[in-house]
Amino acid sequence: MDKLERKFSELFGDGNTIGRFFCPGRVNLIGEHIDYLGGLVMPAAISLGITALVRPNHSKLIRLFSNDFEELLEYRSEKLPKEKQGIWSDYVVGVIQFLQNKGIPIEGFDLLIDSSLPKGSGLSSSAALEVLIYYSLCMVFGNAEPNRSQMALDCQDIENNFVGVNCGIMDQFAVANGKKNHAIKLNCDSLEFEYIPLNLGDYELLIVNSNKQRELTGSAYNQRRVECDTALQTLQGQDASLKNLVDAKLNDIHIIEDETIKKRAKHAINENSRVLDSAVALTKNELVYFGQLMNASHESLSKDFEVSCTELDFIANHLQESDGCLGARMTGAGFGGCCIAIVEHTSASNIIEKLNLEYHQQFGLSPSFYRCKPSDGVRMLVQD
Ligand code: GLA
Repeated sequence: MDKLERKFSELFGDGNTIGRFFCPGRVNLIGEHIDYLGGLVMPAAISLGITALVRPNHSKLIRLFSNDFEELLEYRSEKLPKEKQGIWSDYVVGVIQFLQNKGIPIEGFDLLIDSSLPKGSGLSSSAALEVLIYYSLCMVFGNAEPNRSQMALDCQDIENNFVGVNCGIMDQFAVANGKKNHAIKLNCDSLEFEYIPLNLGDYELLIVNSNKQRELTGSAYNQRRVECDTALQTLQGQDASLKNLVDAKLNDIHIIEDETIKKRAKHAINENSRVLDSAVALTKNELVYFGQLMNASHESLSKDFEVSCTELDFIANHLQESDGCLGARMTGAGFGGCCIAIVEHTSASNIIEKLNLEYHQQFGLSPSFYRCKPSDGVRMLVQD
């Protein structure tokens, strides 16, 4: 019996088999803030994530415990809150009701959650929790593995309509469909996707958490969505057949009078072509070129889309100038959270040491570093 199982028994008593499931977080390699514009994105699931231990208790009682919050929450399976409560269990409650409405007979169960994923850091801890619970409950109460793309869509629906965050499809899709040593090139309009091999050779993916907390529900994210809608409507005035902003032509955006809206459109169009170029570069193992595309993406997010912040700019610029680093950029929604970089194995510790020191001197805050590998999506863990 390992530590988690002991904790489970302490909380809920001994009993029959416990199902164990894991859902990773994600980084987005490139294609930022264009999932909600029907654009192309290229996320990868990572080795950090959330583990769940689940056991039906043959009653109507649902008992939830998260090691992060140290508090036991109880609900009745037939009388769940219809509205969010503003606490972590909203993600669980939202998923249970969604699945019950879909006809999966979920009754009482005990659940223990344990996470290695920093919360609110742009590594998709919310999407990981939703998808983890969705997958676990389908396996335990529905006795079948759910369709992964449908699961991602349903979890996005729950986040939009129950939790109240107007996110795109990328995060849920990435943690549902991740594949070891691969990124996912996803068309967010059609949901067609393709796995892109990440053969990093002498290089690795480094994640740097600025530890500046961000608020995704904050108005800036929704404001970008509105600005992009405005840009699309203006361009549709000239070409009614234009469906997605990312497919507009750079040459046409001069008709947008508002400079801010024009910059948003510029980012969307350029970022989408950077994803296309990145997929080709990675397939051909052209890591140097991919690094340049990452740098250009950061610049665009910082200057044209304006979703970076002083801390992320500092980290990205520092990494970009470090020996042994091919490229760096912010990842996720921005306004804080994480940067990613492609760094040489042999330079990684030096880069980490220097950045740690200089960031602390500048902001009085220590960053966290994760040397991560692209991993598989949500899954059942088989015990030895
Ligand atoms: C958040 C959202 C995603 C996506 C990114 C930005 O992670 O949940 O849908 O919009 O921001 O690329």
